[in-house]
Amino acid sequence: MKVRAIVSGTQPPLLFPPYRSTIRRAPKEPLIRIPETLSDLNAPVYGWWPVGETDNDLTRQHQGEPQGERIIVSGRVLDEDARPVAGALVEIWQANAAGRYKHVKDDHPAPLDPNFTGAGRTITDADGRYEFTTIKPGAYPWRNHENAWRPAHIHFSLFGTSFRARLVTQMYFPGDPLMAHDPMVQSVRDDRARERMVSRFELGLTRPEWALGYVFDIILRGENATPFEERT
Ligand SMILES: [Fe+2]
Repeated sequence: MKVRAIVSGTQPPLLFPPYRSTIRRAPKEPLIRIPETLSDLNAPVYGWWPVGETDNDLTRQHQGEPQGERIIVSGRVLDEDARPVAGALVEIWQANAAGRYKHVKDDHPAPLDPNFTGAGRTITDADGRYEFTTIKPGAYPWRNHENAWRPAHIHFSLFGTSFRARLVTQMYFPGDPLMAHDPMVQSVRDDRARERMVSRFELGLTRPEWALGYVFDIILRGENATPFEERT
């Protein structure tokens, strides 16, 4: 495989002081390369439980329907040569329509939705394609700086053939004015790379009288790679 250098500014740096958590989190010493073993490269990554029928439909995981704007999010996972990556585990997690996570540490005073957990998973098909049905997440405040709000986003994790092949990113929505004020988005300095974190509204993906559609393709490597916050 040809290894291509990462173009400066197209991936978020480990240290980006306007995003305050990176100050404590970023390594202060040079990184140490841990040699890969055969099991790192080949060990099975998925849990023993199969992906269930409603795992990729976050609107059908409870008795009732969640509140909010129903959306379909679909795209392809591609390598640097635009070849589809089949069999990748794609996991998502997100806030509900009011901007609240179902998580013990989320104390944002917005309502929880008893019909929405906010987590889903699926496996890419032979064409590298995945699809989720969910609810458009709301913006939420965080305490990074005065009056800080996260733009609406969906967290994505991708697993390849081993735990060492995990990528984590966030998908945003087109036209969200909060992106210009968000240090996580702005930590990616390259304009075109930042755009690669933004989904595209696609009328063809909408289901009439049911849900709006957004396309989010994920490119794993190369000069057009999606910005990833975590590479293991
Ligand atoms: Fe989030």
